[in-house]
Amino acid sequence: MSQQVRAVVAAAKGAPVELTTIVVPDPGPGEAVVRVQACGVCHTDLHYREGGINDEFPFLLGHEAAGIVETVGAGVTEIAPGDFVILNWRAVCGQCRACRRGRPQYCFDTHNAKQRMTLLDGTELSPALGIGAFAEKTLVAAGQCTKVDPAAAPEVAGLLGCGVMAGLGAAMNTGGVGRGDSVAVIGCGGVGGAAVTGSRLAGAARIIAVDIDDRKLDTARRLGATHTVNSRTTDPVEAIRELTGGHGADVVIEAVGRPETYRQAFYARDLAGTVVLVGVPTPEMTLEIPLLDVFGRGGALKSSWYGDCLPSRDFPMLIDLYLQGRLDLGAFVSETIRLDGVEEAFARMQHGDVLRSVVLL
Ligand code: APR
Ligand code: ZN
Ligand code: ZN
Repeated sequence: MSQQVRAVVAAAKGAPVELTTIVVPDPGPGEAVVRVQACGVCHTDLHYREGGINDEFPFLLGHEAAGIVETVGAGVTEIAPGDFVILNWRAVCGQCRACRRGRPQYCFDTHNAKQRMTLLDGTELSPALGIGAFAEKTLVAAGQCTKVDPAAAPEVAGLLGCGVMAGLGAAMNTGGVGRGDSVAVIGCGGVGGAAVTGSRLAGAARIIAVDIDDRKLDTARRLGATHTVNSRTTDPVEAIRELTGGHGADVVIEAVGRPETYRQAFYARDLAGTVVLVGVPTPEMTLEIPLLDVFGRGGALKSSWYGDCLPSRDFPMLIDLYLQGRLDLGAFVSETIRLDGVEEAFARMQHGDVLRSVVLL
């Protein structure tokens, strides 16, 4: 038996989102229905609404979520009704070349729920990142649910579903930040702020936060930055070199997604340093760099996808650190809102007023 719930849908390109009623089917084999408790507002939701991802309107938005498993379909053994879970974009297959080689975070045969949620007239919805969690309930693949300690507040736990995990993982997984490292983070919004936090957690000795907005630099300091650079007034490459004895940082994390900041990241690293690209560029962006600069500097240039996280490994561990008071995930929750507040939260996000607005259900 399907059920009807309230949800936030982007019906047409550029149009404001609407709070409407959707139909959630019972979970089929390998699927689960989750009662959503909290879901963060992310840039990607706005990109969907603006048609920047694809044209498969209408979209059911929301994808940084935590909630309680309500029902599971046939063959689901890893989670059960009542479990507190964080949702992730994609369930890994366990069979492909990447999975077999022990790198399931690069799985190229991931899946979401097979059935579709619909509008009342039967129109199929495209769930954002295969989740769609600005909804009282949502249908996902069971493998998209990771059980974590239910002592964690839902509005905090859900953050690991996307942006904050991307930043933590850029530092801890992709960048391999280690004890004593110097790290520079360019762009300190939700993602970059989390990269600062992840760097501190990994034992970095020096964490240089770069942004054009002093409010973000203040936040970065609270999250663990040891130095801040406003790149509107100061050349960040020179500043980072100066702060690292003339060398450049061991790890530079780019969390903006623009050509000029990609360039800064490239030149701000130590010769054998690592550049981690986590900011997502648009298709038309290009960057010209002399090949001799690429060849002549050692080190590595890496992109970080979803923080190269493995949800089943990383989510429970990070929630434990949070519950022990060693990881301040609460610092990323700027405000909690209701389902009908998503459109206004988009505006605050665009003005840089918040790290994360989180919908509580
Ligand atoms: N130099 C430095 N910082 C900049 C610049 C710049 N030229 N332009 C913008 N910024 C800062 C903003 O002031 C803001 O603090 O970058 C930050 C971006 O943060 P958010 O808008 O909160 O975005 P966030 O959610 O952190 O995502 C950042 O990572 O995963 C990707 O798609 C995501 O590309 C996006 C990026
Ligand atoms: Zn796989
Ligand atoms: Zn997101």
